[in-house]
Amino acid sequence: MNMREVVTDNIHWQTVDVDKEARRRQAGHSSAVVWLTGLSGAGKSTLANMLEKRLHAMGKRTYLLDGDNVRHGLNKDLGFTDADRVENIRRVAEVARLMVDAGVIAITAFISPFRADRQLARDLMGAGEFIEVFVDTPLAVAEARDPKGLYRKARRGELKNFTGIDSPYEPPEHAEVRIDTTSVSVEASSQQLLKVLTQLGVLEPPMRAARQDKENT
Ligand code: ADX
Repeated sequence: MNMREVVTDNIHWQTVDVDKEARRRQAGHSSAVVWLTGLSGAGKSTLANMLEKRLHAMGKRTYLLDGDNVRHGLNKDLGFTDADRVENIRRVAEVARLMVDAGVIAITAFISPFRADRQLARDLMGAGEFIEVFVDTPLAVAEARDPKGLYRKARRGELKNFTGIDSPYEPPEHAEVRIDTTSVSVEASSQQLLKVLTQLGVLEPPMRAARQDKENT
């Protein structure tokens, strides 16, 4: 038996009275995670920021988890080896799950290069709560933008394990949304995401969604 089994064997799940549905009712809308994935420099943070601004202006409860920021705190002990990226995404997915439970619309902006890790994140959430968004920017375009000068460093060999250069990026096969950043503006992309959130019922009061379900049966 390993340590993990010993720990979980002796820890029980504590039931709480104020649950996700109660928090959603108080928020006046449902909750979900909008999971942005794509290369460094693809435009994830810019799009995430714009989406959060719009949702906030609409009075929705939101929180943006951004790779660069989370790596300054919660995940400052992690680097960019495969194993560290797996752990980075695992922790972020758990935090996002807590936020969905808290009745918040969580937006995450991480490269999250591995398909299996994004699947694990998806599996943590309930049906319809994980909205994967592929911020699709070809490597050549991201590299030409190089907003932080990191691609240049990686090409010079000064930065190891850089995504797209000497570390892989596995594009999503079944993302809910694909954004082609070479042809669509940030404004239009955030509008597109708002539309998806509306269609999925995330922006609606949960009671109304439940009533509609009843009416439809
Ligand atoms: S992830 O792969 O584990 O999901 P994450 O999104 O948290 O990555 O962090 C990516 C950001 O860290 C990039 O936008 C870039 O600014 C910076 N960074 C530093 N070193 C690397 C590297 N080796 N590969 C990719 N990004 C790096």
